[in-house]
Amino acid sequence: MYRILASDGLQEKAINNLIELGFEVENKHYDKEVLGEVLKDFDALVVRSATKVTKEVIEATKGGKLKLVVRAGVGIDNIDVAAAKEAGIEVRNTPNASSDSVAELALAHMFAVARFVGTSNYTMRNGEWNKKKYEGIEIGGKTLGIIGMGRIGRALANKATALGMTVVYNDMFGKQDDLAYDFLELNDLLKISDFISLHVPYDKNAGALIGKDQLNIMKDGSYIINCARGKVVDESALLEALNSGKIAGAGIDVFEVEPNTNEILVNHPRVSCTPHIGASTLEAQDRIGDEVVSVIKNFFK
Ligand code: MLT
Repeated sequence: MYRILASDGLQEKAINNLIELGFEVENKHYDKEVLGEVLKDFDALVVRSATKVTKEVIEATKGGKLKLVVRAGVGIDNIDVAAAKEAGIEVRNTPNASSDSVAELALAHMFAVARFVGTSNYTMRNGEWNKKKYEGIEIGGKTLGIIGMGRIGRALANKATALGMTVVYNDMFGKQDDLAYDFLELNDLLKISDFISLHVPYDKNAGALIGKDQLNIMKDGSYIINCARGKVVDESALLEALNSGKIAGAGIDVFEVEPNTNEILVNHPRVSCTPHIGASTLEAQDRIGDEVVSVIKNFFK
């Protein structure tokens, strides 16, 4: 019988489906010091983002039976993929399940920064009535520049179009022939967009995709939304741009350090923030669970 360790939790339905398919499932978190040793006795590991599958963890599994690591989510930056590959361990993710949830959160942040939703919430709770201060803008009729036109970017483009926005995009793979939106080079997109939304992985060799230079190129008074990875945007450059008014607002779900330590940024009145909850919906988690089951079933069939 194949043994599966779910170290960051897994939907009950998914666990039951795996058991019905004949897998043995242990739903338990182990500290990194012991994880590798524990994994010697498991065929597959399922993680969300809390468990870091580092080179050390992979090396400690040597001589064991681990064959597969499944990331229940999109980003695989908490897994040392090269070390896993070298050890003959496959790494898979669930790329389809959370696109709509992340796209909806990006939109939620766009509305929040355009209409001061978060800021007016907490100032009202402090007894303030700042009606005059919170004159916002409509998002309909504005240009949304999407950076990264994968599944999430495409889901956002559909929804934003339905809200009356004009979508332009940039993608590391260039123009995509099946899309009717305008493809622009990054700097051109930054120059004309009222909102930009990022949907790209973090490339540690390239560093932050949006730093001081890119923020300077952006349209005066534009907005930036990051529901991708914290390090894709240079937080200190962003803070400077928010303080100078160059950038009118930022919607941020992901941070350079998580849990976040940048108190100044999250307390900025023009920032709408959430604690990395892009995929945290009942629907996405349910679909992620189904996708995890199907990945494991197909791998071991
Ligand atoms: C993902 O990569 O799936 C999302 O950022 C959500 C998460 O990491 O929990």
